[in-house]
Amino acid sequence: MEDWIDYYDSTHTIYASRLHRDLHFELIARDIIGYITSPDAVVLDYSCGEALSAAKVAEACGMLILAEPAPGVRGRLIARYAPNTKIRVRSLEDVRKMPKESVDLVVMNSVAQYMTLKELDSALVVIRGLLRPSGRLILGDILRPEVGMFRDVLALLRFGARHGFLKDALVGLISTALSDYRQLRSRVGLQRYSEAEITARLADAGFTASRAHANIGHNPWRMTFVARPAFARSAH
Ligand SMILES: C[S@@+](CC[C@H](N)C(=O)[O-])C[C@H]1O[C@@H](n2cnc3c(N)ncnc32)[C@H](O)[C@@H]1O
Repeated sequence: MEDWIDYYDSTHTIYASRLHRDLHFELIARDIIGYITSPDAVVLDYSCGEALSAAKVAEACGMLILAEPAPGVRGRLIARYAPNTKIRVRSLEDVRKMPKESVDLVVMNSVAQYMTLKELDSALVVIRGLLRPSGRLILGDILRPEVGMFRDVLALLRFGARHGFLKDALVGLISTALSDYRQLRSRVGLQRYSEAEITARLADAGFTASRAHANIGHNPWRMTFVARPAFARSAH
């Protein structure tokens, strides 16, 4: 296993059980819907993963583009959503070729930590080009430098306890600790950003950003940012 895309393309144990996986995607969909401001909006979910609740998001907008780099995951998305006329499935290469200023809302949730700095910067530039002037990028689930793995474990256990899968969550944590995840986490690592670092990277890509009051998903120790295209002030 070379990288995180391979990992997400494999039969991984990141979701402790079917219930955990389904609840995760329901929660993400609910949070994404909260950022949709018009029923006609074109929404891009950048590295969407299995996106099991995407039909709900599609109901709340005009068109939903699901972009995913892992080919196996993308194949399942294509099969699952073929009947849904509001959903398109794309690779990240396809996304680079999409028309400029054609998207109202881009969501990139729980992805930046798996990217190199260069990958993140170039994705932000691509997204900046795709957004309409009134559009927004929601960058969610950013890991902070000062918050360690213990909080990830705690957040999952709390999520499990609240929704009746605590035992599965414990078993899942153990299998994840023994799996490729652990090896990749120590070999490739996960990128962490302070609020100032991520705001500066967003500014370099042409955004003004602020931190959202709550993170997308179940982990309150991670951060979400709302970024809007910045416009150069005229000299007058
Ligand atoms: C934790 S999942 C998040 C999926 C979904 N956005 C969510 O919130 O549930 C991480 C996603 O990032 C993708 N990914 C991993 N490495 C990546 C990279 N270097 N560039 C772009 N996407 C990547 C994976 O294929 C996977 O879909």
